[in-house]
Amino acid sequence: MALRNGPDEFGLVTRLLHWTMMLLIFGQLALGLRLERMEPGLANLWLYGLHKTVGFTLLALILIRITWHLASPPPAPLGPHNALFWAARAAHWTIYALLVGIPFTGWAGSSATGIDVMIADRWTAPPLVEASEAGEAFWFGLHDALTKLLMALLALHILGALKRQAEGDGTLTRMLKGRV
Ligand code: HEM
Ligand code: HEM
Repeated sequence: MALRNGPDEFGLVTRLLHWTMMLLIFGQLALGLRLERMEPGLANLWLYGLHKTVGFTLLALILIRITWHLASPPPAPLGPHNALFWAARAAHWTIYALLVGIPFTGWAGSSATGIDVMIADRWTAPPLVEASEAGEAFWFGLHDALTKLLMALLALHILGALKRQAEGDGTLTRMLKGRV
């Protein structure tokens, strides 16, 4: 079983990163949407801590994934080089950019609250911005907008994958098993 990607093949490392991150991102989005409707207090502070720790884990994983893809480029989408092919590529690149940008906006918003940003209750992440109410509103507003964009793109991404599976072109099989 190949670890690296090939011209027509997704290697094991890419597939593990794709499906592990998928699980973490779905959990993170669901948790974020709960936090949005909560007032922070002593009873739920651990949920904020959990969201931040998973967010930093996702930031590390996306940086590993981008580095890995520079070292071992994933295969191009299957099928003719039509508008859908380029739409799929653009969606993948935008998803990478969002997965880098979103954790930084969450980190900046959390820094702006003036409270220490903790990772796994153990390490303190350095503040990215000075504490201010305006900064908090701006960075969390951006965090919110970018996560909504991510959700919309993921819906398209998943619909696209299911459509191609229904058409039987092997796209989903290749992300699950490596090759068609
Ligand atoms: C949080 C959820 C997800 C994210 C962030 C995500 C992201 C990505 C990205 C960036 C790629 C490009 C290749 C790579 O970097 O590994 C990709 C490929 C792919 N994803 Fe997802 N994905 C998610 C969920 C899903 C789900 C639920 C499905 C299936 C229903 C799926 C099916 C695929 C397939 C089939 C490919 C290969 C496309 C091709 O051959 O061009 N993904 N995904
Ligand atoms: C890929 C990583 C992340 C995803 C997908 C994500 C997703 C979300 C979502 C969907 C929300 C609800 C919408 C909103 O109010 O903004 C949210 C809220 C929040 N996120 Fe994240 N987040 C991520 C990383 C982080 C990180 C790294 C931090 C901090 C270090 C963070 C801190 C917060 C906080 C404090 C809230 C609550 C904001 C409020 O009360 O309005 N997030 N996140």
